[in-house]
Amino acid sequence: MKGLVHETEGWIRSIRSQKEVLFLHVNDGSSLESLQVVADSSFDSRELAFGSSVEVQGQLVKSPSKKQNVELKAEKIEVVGSCDAKAFPFKYKERHPLEYLRQYPHLRCRTNVLGSVLRVRSEATAAIHSFFKDSGFVHIHTPVITSNDCEGAGELFQVEPSSKIKVPEENFFNIPVFLTVSGQLHLEVMSGAFTQVFTFGPTFRAENSQSRRHLAEFYMVEAEISFLESLQDLMQVMESLFKTTAMTVLSNCPKDVELCHKFLAPGQKDRLEHMLKNNFLIISYTEAVEILKQASQNFTFTPEWGADLHTEHEKYLVKHCGDIPVFVINYPLVLKPFYMRDNEDGPQHTVAAVDLLVPGVGELFGGSLREERYHLLEQRLARLGLTEAYQWYLDLRRFGSVPHGGFGMGFERYLQCILGIDNIKDVIPFPRFTHSCLL
Ligand code: 4AD
Ligand code: MG
Repeated sequence: MKGLVHETEGWIRSIRSQKEVLFLHVNDGSSLESLQVVADSSFDSRELAFGSSVEVQGQLVKSPSKKQNVELKAEKIEVVGSCDAKAFPFKYKERHPLEYLRQYPHLRCRTNVLGSVLRVRSEATAAIHSFFKDSGFVHIHTPVITSNDCEGAGELFQVEPSSKIKVPEENFFNIPVFLTVSGQLHLEVMSGAFTQVFTFGPTFRAENSQSRRHLAEFYMVEAEISFLESLQDLMQVMESLFKTTAMTVLSNCPKDVELCHKFLAPGQKDRLEHMLKNNFLIISYTEAVEILKQASQNFTFTPEWGADLHTEHEKYLVKHCGDIPVFVINYPLVLKPFYMRDNEDGPQHTVAAVDLLVPGVGELFGGSLREERYHLLEQRLARLGLTEAYQWYLDLRRFGSVPHGGFGMGFERYLQCILGIDNIKDVIPFPRFTHSCLL
């Protein structure tokens, strides 16, 4: 019986010959599935190597094998680009560790595992945009080049034109400018007009770190909401963003998620289900420190009130909470940036901050209510010597100020958390970190 005339293009993912027949698996990257091509031995198999690109024409027929529904009986095979299998860094049938693949950022996307991770990344991006659109948020393009250091941590990359550019003035922008560390302050401007806004773009931090959860360039999802009265309302949006996105990804690309879970993180399927079906927990910073103090023998850094939580502390807290994501709220004012809302709670003096800690990663979200009261913000800025630079920010509190708040979620850390991937460098197409900017 004649099949359906069909043409396919892609890269050979596997090749094997059996008696008079050649079996090829051709993959075009649109999904994990490869199309099985069956060719008779009259085809010159010398050029049909693992890794080469091909165009195949033939009849799409029902496959006798249970592994696939259909296969392509080749009538014409054209090798578009041959591949020297000996020199190609990936070998047929070998499972290469992620550290090995990392050496080939220009080729690793052709492997099954990176293909799946990057398709999940694409699906999650679309799901996040849908989540905000469906919840009535307006998408804002916040600038990449900025003159502010939103977080005040000084982890800035300064931007200057190349020395070949002749600028009449001393400096291109007349003032020092940087790659953005957060779009928050620009989002606050926009939430003063559109009520609910979000941005999702590249973010840059000169963190001198080779850690498994820090990059110099990462993507951040940030939201800002006006007329927001409490941290509870903010945490609801955070939890809902986490869960809705994961569920959309699970239903849109189950095979890619399954491959990551199976080969990279056995048991992750159940861990993710556990996170999705339970309500996230809430504890205060003060309670967190009490819990940590009870277990201080486990840590390199001694936990104490007024000090930052270290990764080891965050991971312990998540374990202590039964591997369910946990919101830690109300941090000491001294630990947090100038914009967070003062809780005015006496000697301890905390701000309405919230971090979400998740299994395997630690801090995934950072957020807060913002100080919307003019006089309190003015005092904070004055103490830091920032009044002049932030006149425009004070203006937002002079002209129709509203209670508001927002958060930022590290997108790569989110992917690590749902896929169970240990190293952040494996969930971004081209990782940038200290001493490394390949390509
Ligand atoms: O906690 P952060 O610093 O919060 C802010 O920047 C706020 N202005 C966001 C806001 O409220 N609009 O960063 C937010 C998240 C962190 O929780 C973490 O997941 C991620 O961004 N992140 C990084 N991810 C990868 N590499 C780095 N170097 C990161 N630094 C922060
Ligand atoms: Mg933070």
